[in-house]
Amino acid sequence: MAVRTIDWEDDRILLLDQTLLPTEEKYLRIDSIDVLAEAIQSLRVRGAPAIGVAAALGAALAGVLSRAGSREAFDLDVRNAMDVLRATRPTAVNLFWALNRMKTILLTNPLDSVPDLRKKLIAEALTILDEDRRICRRIGRNGANLLQDPISVLTHCNAGALATADYGTALAVVYTAHEQGKQVKVFADETRPLLQGARLTAWELQKSKIDVTVICDNMAASVMKSGLVDCVIVGADRIAANGDVANKIGTYGLALLARAHEIPFYVAAPLSTIDMSILHGDQIPIEIRAAQEITHGFGKQTVPEGVAVYNPAFDVTPHTLVSAIITEAGVIRAPFQEGFHHVLPSS
Ligand code: MRU
Repeated sequence: MAVRTIDWEDDRILLLDQTLLPTEEKYLRIDSIDVLAEAIQSLRVRGAPAIGVAAALGAALAGVLSRAGSREAFDLDVRNAMDVLRATRPTAVNLFWALNRMKTILLTNPLDSVPDLRKKLIAEALTILDEDRRICRRIGRNGANLLQDPISVLTHCNAGALATADYGTALAVVYTAHEQGKQVKVFADETRPLLQGARLTAWELQKSKIDVTVICDNMAASVMKSGLVDCVIVGADRIAANGDVANKIGTYGLALLARAHEIPFYVAAPLSTIDMSILHGDQIPIEIRAAQEITHGFGKQTVPEGVAVYNPAFDVTPHTLVSAIITEAGVIRAPFQEGFHHVLPSS
């Protein structure tokens, strides 16, 4: 993959600052938990799987930075860092999933010395990173089987290389189909208000020489009606036990449009995005972001001073509108809860 989104180098976290794309490619060397928390909150690193990897590396970084002499003090340093990271963004469950895995390392090795545990935290974070790479490839292979040749895919936000440690979830399907020699065309929704589709999806697909056309979000209905879209593929931030899907705001509208135009609506996500503790989508916490993102998008004021703004970052698509969920363990169709039980080891 041509894009290195997140990595671990010389005991520090390396991040491509996505707020500067598509005009500037700049890497940040993260050497403090507060800087990492800010990077997650301000979407320098974003996308559910990448947020999970960032949090895991963050817990490892907390171990590296800790000067504690005793296990008790060391554990406290790492736990405090994990609390800071846990409070950054509420919707993507991968963040909490990854931090729980890191916490398990602390809990299951009570007799380890500080240096030994430090090594184990780094090893676990790198395992999470490496697993994400392999999962993307499997999602890609499973999803590509669903795509005819030629195919025109509409996607929303960015569920690609920039949202994972490898080549994405929704876009993994596109990349794999392209590798298989299929003729793939992508319509990328611009994705207001932060333009992840225009800035990020278009950037990485262009880099990979995949045919991509950006449309404003309000053009999707018309593009579908014109017969230009064969299927919709999006990622997910959290999937409830019944198959309801939280993803970037606007996804629900797209699912309704896809149903109205009899176009398949696919969700591509790792199993770590499924949250069996949440029964229905309306229990998923939805992040509300600053009004500024709408009133002063990318620097220019576009809303009169003092006007109220509502800025939820995600919405929930009911499972009834989802044709299939593409995971690393296979393609799951309704009834989703039953399908999840077959592939999730502990459910
Ligand atoms: O606010 P963002 O940019 O983090 O939102 C990202 C999305 O909604 C993605 O579609 C989702 O995280 C899946 S990424 C594989």
